[in-house]
Amino acid sequence: MDRKKDFIWGTATSSYQIEGAAFEDGKGLSVWDVFVKEKGRIFEGHTGEVACDHYHRMKEDVALLAELGVGAYRFSVSWPRIIPYGNGNVNEKGLRFYSDLVDELLKYHITPYVTLFHWDYPNELEMQGGWLNPESPEWFVSYTEVVAKTFGNRVKNYITFNEPQIFTWLGYDKCTHAPGIKYPAGRILSMCRNIALAHGKSVVKLRELVPDCRVGYAPTCGNAYWPVEETDFLAAKAGELQNSIRADDWLFSSAFWNELFLKGRFHEQCRGLFGSDLPQLTEQEQRLIGQPLDFCGMNLYQGTSVSLSETGEIVLGKLPAGHGKTGMGWPITPKAMYWAVKNFYNTYHLPLFITENGMSALDVISLDGGVHDPGRIDYLARHLSELKRAVLDGAEVEGYFLWSFLDNFEWEKGYDDRFGIVYVDYETQRRIPKDSFYWYQNIIKS
Ligand code: BGC
Repeated sequence: MDRKKDFIWGTATSSYQIEGAAFEDGKGLSVWDVFVKEKGRIFEGHTGEVACDHYHRMKEDVALLAELGVGAYRFSVSWPRIIPYGNGNVNEKGLRFYSDLVDELLKYHITPYVTLFHWDYPNELEMQGGWLNPESPEWFVSYTEVVAKTFGNRVKNYITFNEPQIFTWLGYDKCTHAPGIKYPAGRILSMCRNIALAHGKSVVKLRELVPDCRVGYAPTCGNAYWPVEETDFLAAKAGELQNSIRADDWLFSSAFWNELFLKGRFHEQCRGLFGSDLPQLTEQEQRLIGQPLDFCGMNLYQGTSVSLSETGEIVLGKLPAGHGKTGMGWPITPKAMYWAVKNFYNTYHLPLFITENGMSALDVISLDGGVHDPGRIDYLARHLSELKRAVLDGAEVEGYFLWSFLDNFEWEKGYDDRFGIVYVDYETQRRIPKDSFYWYQNIIKS
């Protein structure tokens, strides 16, 4: 990017998706350890019990990150690995793993970005009501405290929650993710309140224990709206849609979560949509939740097109027949990157990190032994050029984390989808850098 010389190039992973060692060295159960055992939940009954075996291959993986040349690595801490029952006793061996990981990264001058919560919630806490329990924000603060006290001397960048949209929506409404318990909207709203309080209190704790830290959160850019024709009218419409919520997708929307986490309040449309189901937030709670962050993350994979029909009506999500798709069937919509970043920045004026962007492809090891993924390179190049356009237009973007470093356990899709720039042969655990790895290496260099 031209505007910032110190633009941060990184890549990202999450604990349950790569670590494996699910029952080793005193780790407690997470909701995912339980969920993957339920029949029919995960593609072909896959589990994250071994995943990429990163727990045992951490040094090899960090050496590969160093070869890639990234300046930063975003990973998440598994809460039950370091506090097996979620609250109370700490597991020294779990802490040792992350401590060694941090040291190894620093050895190669790779800056660690730690996500506190990327969905592997301690099962013991779920059994006590999980995020519905009024104690849940305090549980999260105690966990934050352990992380901050152990790593705060070396880790200065934190992300409290990864995509609160997804673990609430898919975990408690659609039930395709752990724990897969269906709750009515009123309960989910109470859960959102507790999650937001957990975020606010965690930020306070981090600032107290690591005064020189930088903190943000990483929502997915739910429904990133982009105008197919870049006219003023459609651009304004896309912005309006981005900042509003609808009865059928409020939980997934960016607007709901950004208003909550960044402003400390429920979106103004919530009262009309939920009436007396809407939880209260005192002024003090609003200030706590909405306290200033250093940056906001944005996970962006795809967006919803906004166009006009022949009769002049707004049409959402319509793309020409045969429009490009990723291996997972997600439409390839690079302009969503430009418009989501621009709209976010114009609304919240907070520096951004792209905390995830990438695509799944049907990667195979070719006869020549390489993994050739031109589709992924094209996807990344298009998204980066739209990101650059947003930066040149004035959006403050500090860095970009490519999802993902390694092929990994893609939640309910198991190992069927490959998002990595490094191919993982799950039989042997051999890592094979794909063509996109070398392409990204060059981007970083240049
Ligand atoms: C999540 C990742 C996931 C990726 C691709 C994001 O929603 O944070 O854990 O693997 O998207 O689906």
